[in-house]
Amino acid sequence: MPLVTTKEMFEKAMKEHYAIGAFNVNNMEIIQGIIDAAKEEKSPVILQASSGAIKYARIGYLMKMIEAAVEEAPEIPIAIHLDHGPDFETCKMCIDAGFTSVMIDGSKYEFEENIALTKQVVDYAHAHGVVVEAELGKLAGVEDDVNVSESDAMYTDPIQAKEFVEKTGCDSLAIAIGTSHGAYKFKGEAKLRFDILAKIKELIPNTPIVLHGASTVIPELVQMCNEYGADIPGAKGVPDEMLHQASIKGVSKINVDTDLRLAMTAQIRKVFATEPATFDPRKYLQPAKEEIKKTVQHKIKEVFSSSNRA
Ligand code: G3H
Ligand code: 13P
Ligand code: ZN
Repeated sequence: MPLVTTKEMFEKAMKEHYAIGAFNVNNMEIIQGIIDAAKEEKSPVILQASSGAIKYARIGYLMKMIEAAVEEAPEIPIAIHLDHGPDFETCKMCIDAGFTSVMIDGSKYEFEENIALTKQVVDYAHAHGVVVEAELGKLAGVEDDVNVSESDAMYTDPIQAKEFVEKTGCDSLAIAIGTSHGAYKFKGEAKLRFDILAKIKELIPNTPIVLHGASTVIPELVQMCNEYGADIPGAKGVPDEMLHQASIKGVSKINVDTDLRLAMTAQIRKVFATEPATFDPRKYLQPAKEEIKKTVQHKIKEVFSSSNRA
């Protein structure tokens, strides 16, 4: 199977009430760990690269590694997606390089400006057979120092969401219902606004919904990092059960980066701390890759329910 867009993946996911994992990739070990997990689970998967990832790994290397992944796993649908495209030029560069999906993140702009920018990307992408994810509403978090009443104003407005999708023609929509990026998502109890999700699904039932900032911040991995010298206190993410609920209630794409960073770091730290004489990178990158595989496999199988949907 060649690289695919997310269109068919999302149609099937919406019909059968599960979600597709979208995992951030920055290097070969991360790509291989994700693909090994998706292959074993016979699950569709989205590999996504941010502009930071593209700057780090270089677009040509990323595309060649992803092409290798597709050749190695022809039995599962794989999409390559630009995560948080900041502007038209970056989206165009990725479309021209062979990405099958791009995100234009206009959430920092006013409503009308976000519409205009998104529409510009949609026009170019659709003319090239590529699909577009857009974002409406702002992801907040404790790191942004917002209090509850301020963050209320940042949640996606369902009525605006309908107008936004109609005016832009975007293929999927990232919404803000209480998640945030990084390892510090909640000060107290984790809480997502499922009522807003329900309203959005009611108004735009055919638009696939995307959840950013959706790492669990797996406590065992945080603990392992800290045990071997890290300083990541008070980290907290979205519990598995909440993500599972989201996948049943109409979220079709769930973004994960932080958990992969923790997985990789935990294993590398462990080797450094317990085997000070080791300096062969394969000795710490192999366990790192295996921890990524384990982390992704758990999500696909136990949380997103996308196993055996290839
Ligand atoms: O949502 C952001 C992703 O975690 C990517 O992060 O821009 O540091 O690559 P990055
Ligand atoms: P996390 O930081 O929760 O992993 O979110 C990643 C993300 O949304 C990538 O776009
Ligand atoms: Zn994101």
